[in-house]
Amino acid sequence: MRVVSGIQTTGNLHLGNYLGAIRNWVRLQDSMGADDTCLFFLADLHALTVSIDPATLASNTIEMAATLLAAGIDPDRSILFNQARVPAHSELAWILGGTARVGWLNRMTQWKDKAGKNREGASVGLFTYPVLQAADILGYRATHVPVGEDQKQHLELARDIATKFNLDFGVDLFPLPEPMIPEDTPRIMSLRDGSAKMSKSDPSDMSRINLIDTDDLIATKFRKAKTDPEPLPGDLAGLAGRAEARNLVTIFAALANEAPQSVLDRFAGQGFGQFKPALADLAVATLGPIRDRLVALLDDRDAVGTTLARGAAKAEALVRPTLLAAQRAVGLQV
Ligand code: TYM
Repeated sequence: MRVVSGIQTTGNLHLGNYLGAIRNWVRLQDSMGADDTCLFFLADLHALTVSIDPATLASNTIEMAATLLAAGIDPDRSILFNQARVPAHSELAWILGGTARVGWLNRMTQWKDKAGKNREGASVGLFTYPVLQAADILGYRATHVPVGEDQKQHLELARDIATKFNLDFGVDLFPLPEPMIPEDTPRIMSLRDGSAKMSKSDPSDMSRINLIDTDDLIATKFRKAKTDPEPLPGDLAGLAGRAEARNLVTIFAALANEAPQSVLDRFAGQGFGQFKPALADLAVATLGPIRDRLVALLDDRDAVGTTLARGAAKAEALVRPTLLAAQRAVGLQV
């Protein structure tokens, strides 16, 4: 197995990233065999597709790398790096830009959502974003890509690009990467609006639990989370039309490593006055130790930078031969 995944450096990591992606990365890393490789990276080039302040981008990269380390990514077992330090990602993305079709990119829901009505004013990078993502994956000839549900379409695009490239140039260079979305991977929604995903770009900090939040802030955010006046139902059907209630049950279940039904078995008939404090206690017990490790790691940011540089050197050694093969396939003299 060659596992590759990334995370955009557009802000603090939150509970959605943790339960939707990072926890799966750590589990994968911990279950790898001797011949398998895991590569995890900070997608700082992808962050350039939206407006971002240079100083913030630089500190985000270090802080997010520290968060991954705090959450259990072990740089001796996984390759941890930032995308910008491995130029082959950009070089391969340009080559794959000759293979990807405008029609394919036009269908990407993330592009449609993020560009909104102002497509003419969106950056070119936002449009070609999935081509860089394909390069991130195909450059390592990845077999498996652990992501959340929302990235599935980008993965399908990477597979389409790989298929067309292999066919157009008569090579067998890129294996088709499989998205890995374990069955129990939840989609975590905003604490203020159960129909929007928990996101770094939501202007309200109360909409998300950041992995850097203090215990008190975690408890406050859950206490103030939007809910409804009804008690919790005895079965999942009773959560229909109650997006906020369902989201809190989903979060509880994911943190407790339980099925949502068993959470309902325990809390059926109880109101949020009882459920929310229990949820806050559980979240603090799970996330508190990660936050404490993160705070300690942030005491020495240079050490985190050194870890990323070491990871980049290992990544470079793996990606370079694939880039050379792609350059040869298309007839570039380099
Ligand atoms: P990003 O940075 O938006 O999110 C990182 C990972 O977290 C998952 N995720 C969620 N899962 C559940 N609930 C949520 N509310 C939630 N929010 C985010 C995402 O599915 C993702 O797995 N384009 C990617 C980054 C990327 C990448 C790659 C991923 C760049 N190159 C190559 C895989 C392979 C992104 O923006 O993820």
